[in-house]
Parts: sequence; structure tokens; C-alpha cells
Amino acid sequence: MAPVQGKGKKTGRVRFVPCLLVSTLGIGVCAAGLPAVPDAVHGPGDVKTGYESADYETRSVSLQSRKGLPADLMRLLKSPPRGLPAVPVPRDNPVTGPKIQLGRKLYYDRRLSFNETMSCAMCHIPEQGFTNNELKTAVGIEGRTVRRNAPTIYNVAYFSNLFHDGRETRLEHQVWQPMLAPNEMANPSIGYVIEKLGRLPDYKGLFEAAFDGRGPGIETVGMAIASYERTIISGNSPFDRWRFGGDEKAIGEAAKRGFRLFTGKANCVVCHTADDRQALLTDDAFHNTGLGWEDSVGGGPAEYPVQLAPGVVVRVPSATVESFGEPPPSDLGRYEVTQNPADRWRYKTPSLRNVALTSPYMHNGVFGSLRDVVEFYNKGGIPNPLLDPEIRPLGLTRGEMGDIVSFLESLTGDNIETLVRDAFAAPVGDRH
Ligand code: HEC
Ligand code: HEC
Repeated sequence: MAPVQGKGKKTGRVRFVPCLLVSTLGIGVCAAGLPAVPDAVHGPGDVKTGYESADYETRSVSLQSRKGLPADLMRLLKSPPRGLPAVPVPRDNPVTGPKIQLGRKLYYDRRLSFNETMSCAMCHIPEQGFTNNELKTAVGIEGRTVRRNAPTIYNVAYFSNLFHDGRETRLEHQVWQPMLAPNEMANPSIGYVIEKLGRLPDYKGLFEAAFDGRGPGIETVGMAIASYERTIISGNSPFDRWRFGGDEKAIGEAAKRGFRLFTGKANCVVCHTADDRQALLTDDAFHNTGLGWEDSVGGGPAEYPVQLAPGVVVRVPSATVESFGEPPPSDLGRYEVTQNPADRWRYKTPSLRNVALTSPYMHNGVFGSLRDVVEFYNKGGIPNPLLDPEIRPLGLTRGEMGDIVSFLESLTGDNIETLVRDAFAAPVGDRH
């Protein structure tokens, strides 16, 4: 695919245009203003770039214009794109064609939620980097608040720590958390979901065919969705073609300088790891950058900008917002899993692959652009008693920060369009 760049006006950076999504049960602050990505298939139809200006015009496209085209996901899994290692597959759940097909159907099926409105894909949206570019923190069933940012599903097969705090380690198990969480898909029980799947006529025989005669169950549902997720892999980015393919023209000089800074002066590679043959750009471990500490102890902003209409923004004191919203849920990061005080406000290092597609960033979605993230690191994160020793002021010039952003933008895989079109081809479980 051509470099993923927006057509038309004001591309190249993300602006943070906060708005409030108030519901009966909670409040979600959303970061509209999209990364420089929308092309034929990527990005929401209703692009909000420039939304804050009075002359904003929508260019919403109907869902019908988004044509689906199934992809050979099995082939992708068997020969991962350049820059990625072999996909780890657990011995007790070998990936097969029927499991991928079934998992894909489940992943996009809105009937998997209690009121049949919400699928996995509505928080991990294929055309928005398999995350949600419009929300800092996710919003679940009936507008309920979810405390963290939805991570991307791209390359999730490679991680052995799932969620920002690593509280699950297997994709097979992970699926039940969103299905049961009262603020996500809100099913009353595992049995409820399994019995429902057993009754749906379009699932008849599918589990049995994929699992040697076994029907829908606590294990088979997880195994099917996990098999589909393992095929959402994306590499062979311009960076990979340069670094691992020797193509000097694949990326520009700024991105090359950015990579040298990333592995040198800027010290990023200690956590976002890469070697001579492959680059997952994560150490799959947990670190304190100060963001969680800031939210818990530091107090947060005194007021929020609230956008009422294009070009009309008012500033509302935090106390007012908090008086009608839910109080912000507490979040102690990795500590919630280990109970080790040293793990307070540590969060998982995310992979940086496809990072230009997955704004907003960090576990709390606080940054709308890569530039903001790099500036945050340049300042040395947020000082606190448990700050990771590898986070410190970097003394980067503006030009150097721009180079690092160019490098990060070179990490977008070449099969995004293929995977998104494949997603559009999946049924969504609507009743007709
Ligand atoms: C309401 C929005 C929402 C829905 C619906 C949802 N997720 Fe998520 N998902 C999230 C959020 C938010 C996180 C991070 C939560 C955390 O770290 O505590 C997450 C985390 C994950 C992760 C871990 C990724 C990583 O890198 O650690 C996977 C995998 C995942 N979800 C898959 C699914 C699947 C499969 C479904 C459907 C069964 C689903 N999600 C439904 C919001 C959602
Ligand atoms: C001490 C380890 C560490 C170092 C050093 C580090 N990072 Fe990170 N990075 C993390 C962790 C942990 C997160 C997630 C923080 C969170 O969720 O609150 C993260 C998040 C990010 C994100 C957001 C990704 C997303 O999907 O939300 C970007 C971009 C990023 N880092 C880039 C960099 C760059 C560029 C550098 C060097 C200037 C760097 N990091 C240095 C650990 C590190």
C-alpha cells in the first residue's frame, strides 16, 4: 500500500480535540482529531480532522461503500511479514482454517454482547488501527466508562502479557473478560453466552467442525477467537524494508536519523527492543513513566476543554465535570496483579508497530499525537518516587524529535488494507 497518509487538508499530525461523552452511567473523554492516515479504507468514514474550525465539512461515507475482500489469513500466519519472528502458537490450540473463520465470525458478532449491540470490533476497530482513534478511554455497552485505552490487536499474537497490566497471559483466556465485564459487553455469565451461541442457527455445526465434534464451550469460544487474532499480523513496513531488507530508498533520511536516535541518544530501544533480524519494539515488560502516578496522586487538570459544536469550545472546571460524571476509577497498573508496591503505576510496554495508526496513546490515552509522546519522553516523563531509571530528560532538539516521529511513522505495515478489507467481509451479527 502507498504510504499511509491522509488526502487533502491538515494531515501529518494529530490534534487533540477533546470532547465529552456523557452518559447516564459515566463519562468518557474523547480525543477526536485523527492521525494522518485515512485513505481508501483506513480511518472512520466521518473524518473529524479540522472539526474545531467553523468551516469544517464532513466527508462521511456509508458503510456500503466499504467493500469487503476475504484474505488468506492462514498464509499470513505461516509466513509472517519481514521484521517479525514466527508466530507463537500454543501446542494445545493449533491454528486451522475453520477455527480462524469461526473466530473471525465471533469477533465481529454484535450478538456476543448482552443487548446484542457490541462486538469486539467496536472497540478494536479494524479501520482505526484495530483500536479506537476517537476515544482516550474505551466506552462500553450503553455508554459505560472503561478506565483504559483499547490497545491494538495488530501483532497481539507475540505478547505473553495481555492488558496494560498483564493480568492475562493467553488470548484463549483473555476473551472472557470483555464479554463478562458489566461496562463492556455485559453478559451475565459464561454459560449465558455459550447457551446463546448454541441456539443461534448460523452457528450450527461450526464449532463441531472446527473442534473435532466439540460444541460451543468455555474453551472452544476462546480458542476460536484467539486463532483469528493470531492472524492479525502486520510487518514489512518501510522501516523493515530498509533495516532488514537493505532497501536504502524505503525510508527517508529523517526516519533513518530517527532510528539512530531511537537506539542511541533517546534511549528508547531499552524498552522498545529491536535486534538485527527482527523488531517487536517491546520488551513485553512493565515500566513506570509517571503517567499513572500523575492520574492517581498528581491531581489531573484543573479544567477540561469541551467542544459544543465545530469551532465552539468552552472550558469547564474539573469540579463541575466530576459533579455529574463518575469519579475517575483508580488505576495502580501492574500492582493490581502482583501486589508488589514497586509495581505501582507500571504499565506494559506496547509494541510500536503501526503506531501511526493507533492514536491516542498510553494506557490512559492521554496523548493525541506521536509528537506529544516524544516531547513527554524528552522532558523525562513525570518525576515520581517510582519513575523507571531509564526515563530521564533527553535534551533532544526540535529537529531530533521530528526525526524520531518520522521513524515511528515508518513502522506501518504493508498489509493494512488487506486486513481491513478482510474485516469488512465478515458478518456482523445484525438481525435483519
Ligand atoms: C468496550 C470496549 C471493548 C470491547 C467490547 C472489547 N475490548 Fe478488548 N480491550 C479493551 C480495553 C480498554 C483493553 C485494555 C484493558 C486493560 O488493560 O485493562 C482491551 C484489551 C484487549 C486485549 C489485550 C491486548 C494487549 O495488547 O494487551 C485483547 C487481546 C482484546 N482486548 C481482545 C478483545 C476481544 C477478543 C473482544 C471481544 C470478545 C474485546 N477485546 C472486546 C476494550 C474493549
Ligand atoms: C523505561 C522503558 C521505556 C522507555 C525508555 C521508552 N518507553 Fe515508550 N513506552 C513504555 C511504556 C511502559 C509505555 C506505555 C505507558 C502507558 O501505557 O502508560 C510506552 C508507550 C510508548 C508509546 C505509546 C504507544 C501506544 O500504543 O500507546 C510510544 C509512541 C512510545 N512509548 C515511544 C517511545 C519513544 C519514542 C521512546 C524514546 C524517546 C520511548 N518510548 C522510551 C516504556 C518505555
